Amino acid sequence: MSDSTISVSASDELTVCREVHELKSCLNELRTNRKTAALVPTMGALHEGHLSLIEIAKEQADIVIVSIFVNPTQFGPNEDYETYPRQFDKDVEKCRDAGVDVVFSPDREEVYSDENFFQIKISTLNEHMCGGSRPGFFEGIVQVVNKLFNMVEPDVAVFGQKDIQQVQILRQMVREFNHGVKIVTAPIRRANDGLALSSRNTYLSDDERVTAPGLFRSLQYIETQIRSGVHTPKLLIRHQESELEAKGFEIDYLNVFALKTLSPVESLEKGQTYIIAGAAYLGKTRLIDNILIEL
Ligand code: PAF
Repeated sequence: MSDSTISVSASDELTVCREVHELKSCLNELRTNRKTAALVPTMGALHEGHLSLIEIAKEQADIVIVSIFVNPTQFGPNEDYETYPRQFDKDVEKCRDAGVDVVFSPDREEVYSDENFFQIKISTLNEHMCGGSRPGFFEGIVQVVNKLFNMVEPDVAVFGQKDIQQVQILRQMVREFNHGVKIVTAPIRRANDGLALSSRNTYLSDDERVTAPGLFRSLQYIETQIRSGVHTPKLLIRHQESELEAKGFEIDYLNVFALKTLSPVESLEKGQTYIIAGAAYLGKTRLIDNILIEL
């Protein structure tokens, strides 16, 4: 691993692995004496949100691995796979500063072979929210995270609550396929004005960036109303949709979903947990955000 090891000092060493066999032998060395490992799967373009996942990973395990792989199978034909922000050198620096032990950044060919005999199909959990408008998105995520779990064999994996549907689907994947990985969810990191941090925020123009926190404000408004007793949120949501449209958002979805089923709910019940979630375009940028609410 000579030229892939970036040595900062004897106590602060980061190894960058491109191939699975390198990764496995590096982890074999690091994981002596039953050391535990936490994986933070990313597509790179790391921001404060990712750094908070890394902090949680460090609390959860002895060794932290960050994977950086822009996964082609989770992008639709008209989506931004080609233009998705890629800044590998910066990402590696950030990982080193954050005390990450291993960055695993495989090529497309290392992850996907030409042969493709198996297909993943998800039932029900991807019918609504982002799954409803991005066909194949969660199948692609399940496919790559399944592979990453087999490559890294982590004890823990940390994901952000911003992608709450992803978290719930992956939790189910872990249960159904007995992965033996503990999934930890990290709270959403926000800019000072409330905008949820995302690698795609770099697409926003200056004007759009000013408007963007409107999505979170609408979710907060819906939350406040629900907390003060509105348990059939349909009209409330219609009203917030109009507000957002007036600000220039093009809404993909805005609704209240049951955390368990990820399906929209008409009427909320005490004792249940819900997700107030929205996805909307500002120009070409698709923003998503959510608030969890337990009644
Ligand atoms: O959340 C993401 O960045 C991606 O969906 C993930 C989990 C790294 C899989 O490509």
